[in-house]
Amino acid sequence: MKERMLITGGNPLEGEVRVSGGKNTAVAVIPAVLLADEPCTIENLPDIEDVRALVDILRSLGAKVTYVPGEFMTIDPRTAEGFQIGYRDSQRLRASYYLLGALLGRCGHAEVYFPGGCEIGARPIDQHLKGFNALGAETETHGGRITAMAKELTGSDVFFDVVTVGGTINVMLAAAKAKGTTIIYNAAKEPHIVDLANFLNSMGAKVKGAGTDVIRIRGQQYLHGANYAVIPDQIETGTLMIAAAATRGDVVIHGCIPQHMEALTAKLLEMGVKVSDSDDAIRVRTLGAHRAVNIKTQVYPGFPTDLQQPMSALLTTARGTSVIQETIFEQRLKHLNEIARMGARVRIVDSMAIIEGVPQLYGAPVTCTDLRAGAALVVAGLMAKGITEIYEPEYIDRGYEQIETKLRSLGADIRRESFE
Ligand code: EPU
Repeated sequence: MKERMLITGGNPLEGEVRVSGGKNTAVAVIPAVLLADEPCTIENLPDIEDVRALVDILRSLGAKVTYVPGEFMTIDPRTAEGFQIGYRDSQRLRASYYLLGALLGRCGHAEVYFPGGCEIGARPIDQHLKGFNALGAETETHGGRITAMAKELTGSDVFFDVVTVGGTINVMLAAAKAKGTTIIYNAAKEPHIVDLANFLNSMGAKVKGAGTDVIRIRGQQYLHGANYAVIPDQIETGTLMIAAAATRGDVVIHGCIPQHMEALTAKLLEMGVKVSDSDDAIRVRTLGAHRAVNIKTQVYPGFPTDLQQPMSALLTTARGTSVIQETIFEQRLKHLNEIARMGARVRIVDSMAIIEGVPQLYGAPVTCTDLRAGAALVVAGLMAKGITEIYEPEYIDRGYEQIETKLRSLGADIRRESFE
């Protein structure tokens, strides 16, 4: 049985909602537990498909995992003797490649198939491998599988040619147990890099500089157990902010970190949306018309590529012409062809989208092509007049915990149904 999501648009979102733990932090912190020499407990994990996939993978390696969704996950890595991730498991999520860094650090041997995840561009991993090689590992890619091996990892300088979140995380993982100091230059600065560093340090690792473009990791032989709560999800927060604006609603999002949202907040203010914040909450409301704005995706603290898709849905009805330049993933504009079915006026030229605002979107059947494309279709459906049917909503489940329940609590008319 397949499922589709049904949204009857037009209801303004109103009320209060709590954001879940960060997906992109969770998928780094869970593999990082393999570096520990004692059990660890992680809290505030989002109950999403990517997290469930990692639980299966850790169990397949022999780790003991107790997972109570919404409460905690305790992982005892001491019994994990495996170092191979099968094809199907590797394909279940992008972040399966963090098992490379984590297993290299743990036992000097990792075999993982090329990861799955969203098809939003070429997504090479040359920088990850370059980092492992710099630490003394030998890497080979053959038959769709990546093998990384090292008798001993030795700290070294790693200079990334491009700023890469995944590469930075993978090298941090391997370096945490290497002999000596690793310095990553041109490192990514995203909040989840800082969160991973904090988690590693809570196990006794010595990571300094996370959040800047130079990260120093002094490898440790022994990492102890830790209790850790991951940070709130920056992209879920942003998606809810955009949905509030898109429906001309009034929503308070609790449990978020407003500082992580500055690029989006600035754009929403530029559009004429009202945004205010306190320590751990953001209120978004719309009174007048939305103005068109231009967006260029950039690494943190620039405008995140992960929010470009939901934001583009909002821009389809803004007054004037908006231009979006997607600089991180070359194929991350495909969702706009779906939103065009709903009446959006969009022209895509290479990795640029030119959106001419229309007064109204209209419900139509549309299909998710990736996770954030799905979020964009949800935003479009909430704005549209009539019923929007969203096919392949399971993409959305990879990254958003209980999205329908949360949106319904704010007044949205959204549900899921099975069909043959
Ligand atoms: N790149 C290379 N070589 C590499 C690695 C990356 O050329 O070895 C390029 C990529 O092709 C891309 C750019 O560098 O053009 C940035 O890629 P990055 O490595 O930063 O992305 P990622 O690690 O594959 C993570 C998130 C994405 C998010 C990006 C950018 C996870 C599991 N994934 O991907 O999240 O879009 O960083 O912030 O953390 C999502 O949540 O929907 C999602 C796709």
